[in-house]
Amino acid sequence: MKEPDFSDFRSLARRRLPKVLFEYIDRGCGDETLAKRTRDVLDQVLFQPRALLGTTPKPLKITLWGREYDAPLIIAPTALAAMVAFQGDSHLARAAEKHRLPFCVATQSLMSIEQIRRMAPAASLWFQLYVWKDIELSLDLLERVKRCDVDVLVVTVDTTIPPRRKYNERNGFGMPIRPSFRLAADLALHPHWLLKVLLPTILKTGMPSYVHYPSTMRTTVFRESPPAVSLRRTLSWNDLSRIRDSWVGAMIVKGITCAEDACSAKKMGADGIVVSSHGGRNFDAQATVIEILPSVIEAAGKDLIVMADGGVRSGLDVMRYLKIGAHLVLMGRSPLYATSAGSRYIDYLINDYISEMKNIIELGGL
Ligand SMILES: Cc1cc2nc3c(=O)[nH]c(=O)nc-3n(C[C@H](O)[C@H](O)[C@H](O)COP(=O)(O)O)c2cc1C
Repeated sequence: MKEPDFSDFRSLARRRLPKVLFEYIDRGCGDETLAKRTRDVLDQVLFQPRALLGTTPKPLKITLWGREYDAPLIIAPTALAAMVAFQGDSHLARAAEKHRLPFCVATQSLMSIEQIRRMAPAASLWFQLYVWKDIELSLDLLERVKRCDVDVLVVTVDTTIPPRRKYNERNGFGMPIRPSFRLAADLALHPHWLLKVLLPTILKTGMPSYVHYPSTMRTTVFRESPPAVSLRRTLSWNDLSRIRDSWVGAMIVKGITCAEDACSAKKMGADGIVVSSHGGRNFDAQATVIEILPSVIEAAGKDLIVMADGGVRSGLDVMRYLKIGAHLVLMGRSPLYATSAGSRYIDYLINDYISEMKNIIELGGL
């Protein structure tokens, strides 16, 4: 592949991954208008290049909670990375280690935080927490996480009700995944994936399973999760306060979409928020992140670090979020698709983003 970009990686992932998996990653929810609107609104964020500045552009490095990062970029939590490439989470973690960026491990990841830490010993690992119905079990999980030298806790709050993803239900890729003739045919049509991803996974660790569940409740992706580890529908600010009390490091609330919730996060003691519509995957009829970002930033004031995500396909898109005022930007699908091409392409992607960001800064774009 010569100088590929997001659309090349996406096309490759479309070819290589079983259709059900590709659609699970790529598509949105409901009528899937949010992803399109996100792109349209992002494209309207324009720059006014300056001529003859004659100055050295300010560096991209950022220091956050005592750790320096090479750029204000974060590899977002994406649960099924280990189904996109064999041990996909470890590729993402190693890329984060190499480029001195954070990688946020998901609660629903199929590789454990312990395993990822072993494979990327110097990486800045963040951990994304979905709070379970039995919140005591979530607090127990945090004890595991603390032992893995995790820098930051990211609590996702926008997934308390199951998203409407009809195509997943139709093609059998609900959670749990339902075995069917159609699914078997889809897998059979993707021998590269079967041989390079599923087979080595099964040989190494058995059927993919949710390894952050308590050991007595661990289920494969083909079994219903026990109710105690289903997502907590009644999640409240009181629950977040309990988590805050048991986590000494920095804590971020992910999935904030209005100024009022940014104020509540601040009051609760959060150090940062992620303004996110979950990549258009959870609720279609909401404003895009770019549209709500200014009011959320104003409400956050100086006390909260504000991060943003959604639709990022290039360094230019990252700069668009920074221009509107985000301090850092998360990349979800793009590194995931690069992973399907091979681990060196994650490096390539990050280098490409950073070099484009530097060029835009040189144009006086920030
Ligand atoms: C396949 C997939 C799985 C995801 N899993 C999680 C998750 O487990 N927890 C979470 O907080 N966000 C999850 N997200 C959302 C991302 O963290 C991020 O908010 C979103 O993907 C950003 O949009 P983008 O993909 O357009 O960059 C997931 C996204 C995708 C595409």
